[in-house]
Amino acid sequence: MFCPKIDTSRHAAYFGPMEPTPLQIAAQRLAQADKVAVLTGAGISAESGVPTFRGADGLWEKYRPEDLATPQAFARDPELVWRWYHWRRGLIAECFPNPAHQALVNMEKRVASFTLITQNVDGLHRLAGSRNILEVHGNLWMVRCTACGTLYEQRELDLPPRPACRECGGFLRPHVVWFGESLDSRILEAAWQAAAQCQVMLVVGTSAVVQPAAGLASVAKQAGAFVIEVNLEPTPNSREVDVSLMGKAGEIMPQLAQ
Ligand code: OAD
Repeated sequence: MFCPKIDTSRHAAYFGPMEPTPLQIAAQRLAQADKVAVLTGAGISAESGVPTFRGADGLWEKYRPEDLATPQAFARDPELVWRWYHWRRGLIAECFPNPAHQALVNMEKRVASFTLITQNVDGLHRLAGSRNILEVHGNLWMVRCTACGTLYEQRELDLPPRPACRECGGFLRPHVVWFGESLDSRILEAAWQAAAQCQVMLVVGTSAVVQPAAGLASVAKQAGAFVIEVNLEPTPNSREVDVSLMGKAGEIMPQLAQ
């Protein structure tokens, strides 16, 4: 059989060397790194069916955060606030991790030091199988007693309008961070450290407008990390990052993690 031999060196000289695409550059940086930090936001769960907060179909387009997500709102009308959380818990109970969550599970398996910082309260990273997770805004499936402070997992969906603590009967609240509240200082410190020490930081599906999480990309960049952003649209971080990949996380992330 005749099999022509192609002289690839002459070929390259003729066409010029192929420039790697931004996606290839980002994937290569990730493949070479042994310290990786990831920051995720609502956009990573959008393809699982979880509503985001901002943008055309965002929750904050239909609801006012000051009515539902502040300590004052809870003090004023706890049943209204709980109704909103009961609704969100019911909705998220029907959602499953998507290929973007799965890509992070695969990445964690081969990176020596991997920290996943998430602003999401939906628990989908944990459900997918990610292990080293910092949930900076809490978790919708955890409840906290306003009287004795006991914190525990509560997955039941048909909770009463004013759920009570299993330990002391006190009034429970969702274990999420509301506007005007401080983040858990130990979790925040660990997130800061991961951002400051990583070689590559990946920022996925966040509008990057809510501090202090939004500042983590700058912390990483200033400490010398290569910063990659994945989002449907530009964000306040886009100018500062090394590579900005525009598109759906569920499509881009599996390619990045390959
Ligand atoms: P946002 O709703 O503010 O932003 C979601 C981001 O995801 C936007 O920039 C979208 O462009 C992007 N996005 C949407 N779908 C995507 C997809 N399929 N692939 C990639 N990107 C996509 O959500 P967060 O940035 O997470 O706080 O919001 C931060 C915080 O504000 C939340 O944690 C919440 C909220 O108030 C608390 O609950 C305390």
